[in-house]
Amino acid sequence: MAIKDPLSSENLLLSIKDLDIYLKKKHSQVNLVNSVNLRVNHSEVFCIVGESGCGKSITALSVLRLLPKNLTASGSILYHPVSSNLLTLPEQELLKVRGKEISMIFQEPMTSLNPVFTIGYQIEEVLRLHEGLSKREARQRATELLQSVKIPEAHLRIKDYPHQLSGGMRQRVMIAMAIACNPRLLIADEPTTALDVTVQAEILDMLLEIQATRGMSILLITHDLAVVEETAQRVAVMYAGRVVEMADRKGLFENPRHPYTIGLFNSLPGRGKKRLNPIPGTVPSPEELPRGCKFSTRCSMKLKECEFREPELKDTGENHLSRCIRADELKG
Ligand SMILES: Nc1ncnc2c1ncn2[C@@H]1O[C@H](COP(=O)(O)OP(=O)(O)OP(=O)(O)O)[C@@H](O)[C@H]1O
Ligand SMILES: [Mg+2]
Repeated sequence: MAIKDPLSSENLLLSIKDLDIYLKKKHSQVNLVNSVNLRVNHSEVFCIVGESGCGKSITALSVLRLLPKNLTASGSILYHPVSSNLLTLPEQELLKVRGKEISMIFQEPMTSLNPVFTIGYQIEEVLRLHEGLSKREARQRATELLQSVKIPEAHLRIKDYPHQLSGGMRQRVMIAMAIACNPRLLIADEPTTALDVTVQAEILDMLLEIQATRGMSILLITHDLAVVEETAQRVAVMYAGRVVEMADRKGLFENPRHPYTIGLFNSLPGRGKKRLNPIPGTVPSPEELPRGCKFSTRCSMKLKECEFREPELKDTGENHLSRCIRADELKG
Protein backbone atom coordinates (compact mmCIF):
# COMPACT_ATOMS: atom_id res chain seq x y z
CA MET A 1 0.00 0.00 0.00
CA ALA A 2 1.27 3.46 -0.85
CA ILE A 3 2.16 5.61 2.15
CA LYS A 4 -0.17 8.56 2.41
CA ASP A 5 1.51 11.90 1.96
CA PRO A 6 1.21 13.62 5.37
CA LEU A 7 0.85 16.97 3.62
CA SER A 8 -1.73 16.04 0.99
CA SER A 9 -4.81 18.22 0.96
CA GLU A 10 -7.23 15.37 1.68
CA ASN A 11 -5.75 15.04 5.17
CA LEU A 12 -6.28 18.68 6.05
CA LEU A 13 -8.37 19.58 9.06
CA LEU A 14 -7.18 23.03 10.06
CA SER A 15 -4.81 25.41 8.35
CA ILE A 16 -3.48 28.55 9.91
CA LYS A 17 -2.23 30.95 7.26
CA ASP A 18 -0.16 34.08 7.76
CA LEU A 19 -1.43 34.55 11.27
CA ASP A 20 -0.37 37.83 12.85
CA ILE A 21 -1.40 38.88 16.32
CA TYR A 22 -1.06 42.46 17.52
CA LEU A 23 -1.35 44.13 20.86
CA LYS A 24 -3.19 47.41 20.43
CA LYS A 25 -1.72 50.28 22.34
CA LYS A 26 -2.84 53.88 22.52
CA HIS A 27 -0.60 55.17 19.75
CA SER A 28 0.98 52.04 18.36
CA GLN A 29 0.70 48.32 18.07
CA VAL A 30 3.08 45.56 19.07
CA ASN A 31 3.45 42.45 16.95
CA LEU A 32 3.20 39.35 19.17
CA VAL A 33 2.80 36.61 16.56
CA ASN A 34 4.31 36.97 13.12
CA SER A 35 3.22 35.18 9.99
CA VAL A 36 2.54 31.79 11.51
CA ASN A 37 1.65 29.07 9.01
CA LEU A 38 0.77 25.59 10.11
CA ARG A 39 -1.67 22.81 9.47
CA VAL A 40 -3.25 20.11 11.53
CA ASN A 41 -4.24 16.90 9.75
CA HIS A 42 -7.11 14.56 10.53
CA SER A 43 -6.33 12.19 13.41
CA GLU A 44 -2.93 13.58 14.27
CA VAL A 45 -1.31 15.13 17.29
CA PHE A 46 0.39 18.36 16.30
CA CYS A 47 2.54 20.00 18.98
CA ILE A 48 3.57 23.61 19.35
CA VAL A 49 6.59 23.88 21.63
CA GLY A 50 8.64 26.82 22.85
CA GLU A 51 9.65 28.82 25.91
CA SER A 52 7.30 30.98 27.93
CA GLY A 53 6.03 34.03 26.07
CA CYS A 54 6.75 32.82 22.53
CA GLY A 55 3.09 33.04 21.50
CA LYS A 56 1.83 29.47 21.86
CA SER A 57 -1.31 30.26 23.83
CA ILE A 58 -2.42 33.29 21.84
CA THR A 59 -1.94 31.31 18.60
CA ALA A 60 -4.17 28.57 20.03
CA LEU A 61 -6.73 31.02 21.41
CA SER A 62 -7.08 32.75 18.07
CA VAL A 63 -8.37 29.51 16.50
CA LEU A 64 -11.57 29.79 18.51
CA ARG A 65 -11.50 33.59 18.56
CA LEU A 66 -10.94 33.61 22.29
CA LEU A 67 -8.17 36.22 22.30
CA PRO A 68 -8.26 38.86 25.03
CA LYS A 69 -9.93 42.06 23.81
CA ASN A 70 -6.72 44.07 23.57
CA LEU A 71 -5.28 41.65 20.97
CA THR A 72 -6.26 41.34 17.30
CA ALA A 73 -5.54 38.59 14.83
CA SER A 74 -5.21 38.78 11.05
CA GLY A 75 -4.58 36.19 8.37
CA SER A 76 -6.83 33.16 8.03
CA ILE A 77 -7.65 30.07 9.99
CA LEU A 78 -9.42 27.63 7.72
CA TYR A 79 -11.44 24.85 9.26
CA HIS A 80 -11.84 22.51 6.34
CA PRO A 81 -14.90 20.38 7.25
CA VAL A 82 -17.08 23.48 7.01
CA SER A 83 -14.80 25.38 4.59
CA SER A 84 -14.80 28.39 6.86
CA ASN A 85 -12.34 31.03 7.89
CA LEU A 86 -12.76 31.00 11.65
CA LEU A 87 -11.36 34.51 11.95
CA THR A 88 -14.22 36.00 9.94
CA LEU A 89 -17.04 33.52 10.53
CA PRO A 90 -20.22 35.21 11.83
CA GLU A 91 -20.55 34.78 15.61
CA GLN A 92 -23.65 32.60 15.23
CA GLU A 93 -21.78 30.16 12.97
CA LEU A 94 -18.73 30.22 15.21
CA LEU A 95 -20.85 29.07 18.15
CA LYS A 96 -21.69 25.92 16.22
CA VAL A 97 -18.01 25.18 15.75
CA ARG A 98 -16.85 26.06 19.25
CA GLY A 99 -17.23 23.14 21.65
CA LYS A 100 -18.82 20.92 19.05
CA GLU A 101 -16.30 20.72 16.20
CA ILE A 102 -13.32 22.20 18.02
CA SER A 103 -12.95 22.28 21.77
CA MET A 104 -10.26 23.44 24.09
CA ILE A 105 -8.75 22.58 27.46
CA PHE A 106 -6.45 24.75 29.52
CA GLN A 107 -3.66 24.33 32.02
CA GLU A 108 -5.67 25.22 35.09
CA PRO A 109 -9.04 23.48 35.15
CA MET A 110 -10.34 25.58 38.05
CA THR A 111 -10.51 28.60 35.78
CA SER A 112 -12.83 26.76 33.38
CA LEU A 113 -14.96 24.81 35.85
CA ASN A 114 -17.68 26.64 37.69
CA PRO A 115 -17.23 26.15 41.46
CA VAL A 116 -20.93 26.44 42.28
CA PHE A 117 -22.19 23.60 40.06
CA THR A 118 -21.55 19.87 40.28
CA ILE A 119 -19.32 18.44 37.60
CA GLY A 120 -22.21 16.31 36.37
CA TYR A 121 -24.37 19.38 35.85
CA GLN A 122 -21.59 21.13 33.93
CA ILE A 123 -21.05 18.22 31.56
CA GLU A 124 -24.79 17.77 31.09
CA GLU A 125 -25.16 21.44 30.18
CA VAL A 126 -22.70 21.00 27.31
CA LEU A 127 -24.61 17.96 26.05
CA ARG A 128 -28.01 19.63 26.33
CA LEU A 129 -26.82 22.77 24.60
CA HIS A 130 -25.01 21.17 21.68
CA GLU A 131 -26.68 17.79 21.32
CA GLY A 132 -30.19 18.63 22.55
CA LEU A 133 -30.25 15.69 24.95
CA SER A 134 -32.93 15.34 27.62
CA LYS A 135 -31.95 15.57 31.29
CA ARG A 136 -31.92 11.79 31.68
CA GLU A 137 -30.01 11.12 28.49
CA ALA A 138 -27.49 13.79 29.42
CA ARG A 139 -26.92 12.25 32.87
CA GLN A 140 -26.35 8.85 31.29
CA ARG A 141 -23.90 10.25 28.72
CA ALA A 142 -22.10 12.33 31.37
CA THR A 143 -21.52 9.22 33.47
CA GLU A 144 -20.17 7.36 30.43
CA LEU A 145 -17.88 10.28 29.65
CA LEU A 146 -16.47 10.30 33.18
CA GLN A 147 -15.85 6.58 32.81
CA SER A 148 -14.09 7.13 29.51
CA VAL A 149 -11.66 9.53 31.18
CA LYS A 150 -11.08 6.85 33.82
CA ILE A 151 -12.68 8.53 36.80
CA PRO A 152 -13.38 5.76 39.30
CA GLU A 153 -16.96 5.47 40.63
CA ALA A 154 -18.18 7.88 38.01
CA HIS A 155 -21.82 7.57 39.12
CA LEU A 156 -20.83 9.00 42.52
CA ARG A 157 -18.24 11.54 41.35
CA ILE A 158 -20.79 13.09 39.04
CA LYS A 159 -22.40 14.69 42.09
CA ASP A 160 -19.14 16.25 43.30
CA TYR A 161 -18.27 19.93 43.12
CA PRO A 162 -14.94 20.80 41.46
CA HIS A 163 -13.17 21.59 44.77
CA GLN A 164 -13.88 18.06 46.02
CA LEU A 165 -11.64 16.60 43.32
CA SER A 166 -7.85 16.47 43.01
CA GLY A 167 -6.10 18.47 40.27
CA GLY A 168 -5.67 15.38 38.12
CA MET A 169 -9.33 14.44 38.47
CA ARG A 170 -10.42 17.96 37.60
CA GLN A 171 -8.31 17.84 34.47
CA ARG A 172 -10.04 14.56 33.55
CA VAL A 173 -13.39 16.28 34.01
CA MET A 174 -12.26 19.07 31.70
CA ILE A 175 -11.28 16.51 29.10
CA ALA A 176 -14.64 14.75 29.49
CA MET A 177 -16.38 18.09 28.86
CA ALA A 178 -14.16 18.86 25.91
CA ILE A 179 -14.84 15.53 24.19
CA ALA A 180 -18.55 15.44 25.12
CA CYS A 181 -19.65 16.39 21.61
CA ASN A 182 -17.06 14.32 19.77
CA PRO A 183 -15.04 17.23 18.42
CA ARG A 184 -12.79 16.64 15.44
CA LEU A 185 -10.14 18.85 16.98
CA LEU A 186 -9.12 19.24 20.59
CA ILE A 187 -6.84 22.14 21.43
CA ALA A 188 -4.97 21.38 24.63
CA ASP A 189 -2.94 24.25 26.10
CA GLU A 190 -0.40 22.85 28.59
CA PRO A 191 -3.01 20.35 29.82
CA THR A 192 -0.66 18.60 32.24
CA THR A 193 1.78 21.33 33.30
CA ALA A 194 0.07 21.99 36.64
CA LEU A 195 0.10 18.30 37.59
CA ASP A 196 2.81 16.17 39.14
CA VAL A 197 4.82 13.92 36.89
CA THR A 198 3.03 10.60 37.36
CA VAL A 199 -0.41 12.17 36.98
CA GLN A 200 0.90 14.02 33.91
CA ALA A 201 1.88 10.74 32.28
CA GLU A 202 -1.48 9.13 33.07
CA ILE A 203 -3.40 12.04 31.60
CA LEU A 204 -1.28 12.15 28.46
CA ASP A 205 -1.72 8.40 27.95
CA MET A 206 -5.44 8.76 28.38
CA LEU A 207 -5.60 11.66 25.93
CA LEU A 208 -3.71 9.62 23.35
CA GLU A 209 -6.01 6.66 23.86
CA ILE A 210 -9.08 8.86 23.35
CA GLN A 211 -7.45 10.47 20.33
CA ALA A 212 -6.77 7.09 18.75
CA THR A 213 -10.17 5.52 19.45
CA ARG A 214 -12.13 8.56 18.31
CA GLY A 215 -9.88 9.49 15.41
CA MET A 216 -9.72 13.01 16.81
CA SER A 217 -6.89 15.49 16.16
CA ILE A 218 -5.09 17.27 18.95
CA LEU A 219 -3.28 20.58 18.77
CA LEU A 220 -1.12 20.26 21.83
CA ILE A 221 0.68 23.23 23.31
CA THR A 222 3.62 22.57 25.58
CA HIS A 223 6.96 24.00 26.68
CA ASP A 224 8.19 20.48 27.36
CA LEU A 225 10.04 18.48 24.70
CA ALA A 226 9.50 15.31 26.72
CA VAL A 227 5.75 15.75 26.18
CA VAL A 228 6.34 16.29 22.47
CA GLU A 229 8.35 13.10 22.27
CA GLU A 230 5.52 11.14 23.91
CA THR A 231 2.73 12.49 21.77
CA ALA A 232 3.43 14.32 18.52
CA GLN A 233 3.28 13.24 14.92
CA ARG A 234 4.41 16.68 13.80
CA VAL A 235 5.86 19.64 15.66
CA ALA A 236 6.26 23.39 15.29
CA VAL A 237 8.91 25.08 17.42
CA MET A 238 8.11 28.71 18.19
CA TYR A 239 10.41 31.52 19.26
CA ALA A 240 9.49 35.19 19.71
CA GLY A 241 6.15 34.82 17.95
CA ARG A 242 7.57 32.94 14.96
CA VAL A 243 7.73 29.34 13.88
CA VAL A 244 11.47 28.66 13.68
CA GLU A 245 11.34 24.95 12.90
CA MET A 246 8.70 22.48 11.79
CA ALA A 247 9.08 18.76 11.15
CA ASP A 248 7.71 15.38 11.99
CA ARG A 249 8.68 14.13 15.41
CA LYS A 250 11.37 11.78 14.20
CA GLY A 251 13.00 14.47 12.07
CA LEU A 252 12.98 16.97 14.90
CA PHE A 253 14.34 14.63 17.53
CA GLU A 254 16.94 12.93 15.38
CA ASN A 255 18.13 15.97 13.49
CA PRO A 256 17.05 19.37 14.79
CA ARG A 257 17.91 22.05 12.22
CA HIS A 258 17.59 25.29 14.17
CA PRO A 259 20.04 26.42 16.88
CA TYR A 260 17.11 27.31 19.13
CA THR A 261 15.71 23.77 19.00
CA ILE A 262 19.19 22.39 19.64
CA GLY A 263 19.41 24.75 22.63
CA LEU A 264 16.10 23.41 23.93
CA PHE A 265 17.41 19.85 23.65
CA ASN A 266 20.67 20.76 25.41
CA SER A 267 18.76 22.28 28.30
CA LEU A 268 16.81 19.07 28.89
CA PRO A 269 17.72 17.03 31.96
CA GLY A 270 18.65 13.35 31.74
CA ARG A 271 20.22 11.36 28.95
CA GLY A 272 23.39 10.75 30.95
CA LYS A 273 24.16 14.44 31.29
CA LYS A 274 25.93 15.64 34.41
CA ARG A 275 24.62 19.18 34.15
CA LEU A 276 22.09 21.14 32.18
CA ASN A 277 23.08 23.64 29.54
CA PRO A 278 20.40 26.28 29.46
CA ILE A 279 20.25 28.64 26.48
CA PRO A 280 22.16 31.77 27.54
CA GLY A 281 20.29 35.04 27.94
CA THR A 282 16.56 35.57 27.97
CA VAL A 283 13.77 35.80 25.43
CA PRO A 284 13.58 39.39 24.17
CA SER A 285 10.33 41.22 24.85
CA PRO A 286 8.01 41.63 21.82
CA GLU A 287 8.62 45.39 21.98
CA GLU A 288 12.38 45.02 21.76
CA LEU A 289 12.98 42.29 19.23
CA PRO A 290 16.31 42.37 17.42
CA ARG A 291 16.21 43.50 13.81
CA GLY A 292 17.41 40.35 12.01
CA CYS A 293 16.99 36.81 13.25
CA LYS A 294 15.04 37.04 16.49
CA PHE A 295 17.22 34.36 18.05
CA SER A 296 20.48 36.09 17.06
CA THR A 297 20.98 37.64 20.52
CA ARG A 298 21.29 34.16 22.07
CA CYS A 299 22.61 32.07 19.21
CA SER A 300 26.01 30.37 19.38
CA MET A 301 26.08 29.96 15.57
CA LYS A 302 25.30 33.56 14.74
CA LEU A 303 26.94 35.22 11.72
CA LYS A 304 27.19 38.95 11.09
CA GLU A 305 24.31 38.97 8.62
CA CYS A 306 21.96 37.29 11.13
CA GLU A 307 21.82 40.61 12.95
CA PHE A 308 20.43 42.40 9.93
CA ARG A 309 18.23 40.04 7.98
CA GLU A 310 15.56 37.73 9.34
CA PRO A 311 15.77 34.36 7.58
CA GLU A 312 12.67 32.86 6.01
CA LEU A 313 11.20 29.58 7.15
CA LYS A 314 12.48 27.26 4.42
CA ASP A 315 12.17 23.59 3.58
CA THR A 316 15.54 21.97 4.15
CA GLY A 317 14.35 18.65 2.70
CA GLU A 318 11.84 15.95 3.78
CA ASN A 319 9.27 18.61 4.75
CA HIS A 320 11.62 19.75 7.50
CA LEU A 321 11.44 23.53 7.76
CA SER A 322 14.00 25.78 9.45
CA ARG A 323 14.34 29.55 9.83
CA CYS A 324 18.14 29.51 9.96
CA ILE A 325 20.61 30.42 7.21
CA ARG A 326 22.96 27.71 8.54
CA ALA A 327 20.33 24.96 8.57
CA ASP A 328 22.17 22.97 5.91
CA GLU A 329 25.24 22.74 8.14
CA LEU A 330 23.03 21.19 10.80
CA LYS A 331 21.68 18.53 8.47
CA GLY A 332 22.70 15.11 9.67
N1 LIG B 1 -3.73 40.19 26.83
C1 LIG B 1 -2.45 40.47 26.59
N2 LIG B 1 -2.01 41.74 26.64
C2 LIG B 1 -0.72 42.05 26.38
N3 LIG B 1 0.21 41.16 26.02
C3 LIG B 1 -0.16 39.86 25.97
C4 LIG B 1 -1.50 39.45 26.24
N4 LIG B 1 -1.57 38.12 26.11
C5 LIG B 1 -0.33 37.71 25.76
N5 LIG B 1 0.52 38.75 25.67
C6 LIG B 1 1.95 38.69 25.29
O1 LIG B 1 2.03 37.91 24.11
C7 LIG B 1 3.20 37.11 24.13
C8 LIG B 1 2.80 35.66 23.90
O2 LIG B 1 2.00 35.22 24.98
P1 LIG B 1 1.49 33.73 25.14
O3 LIG B 1 0.60 33.70 26.35
O4 LIG B 1 0.91 33.24 23.87
O5 LIG B 1 2.83 32.93 25.44
P2 LIG B 1 3.05 31.37 25.67
O6 LIG B 1 3.98 30.90 24.62
O7 LIG B 1 1.74 30.70 25.76
O8 LIG B 1 3.81 31.34 27.07
P3 LIG B 1 3.62 30.36 28.35
O9 LIG B 1 4.48 29.17 28.06
O10 LIG B 1 4.14 31.18 29.49
O11 LIG B 1 2.17 30.03 28.48
C9 LIG B 1 3.88 37.37 25.47
O12 LIG B 1 4.89 38.33 25.26
C10 LIG B 1 2.78 37.93 26.32
O13 LIG B 1 3.29 38.80 27.30
MG1 LIG C 1 0.72 29.74 27.31
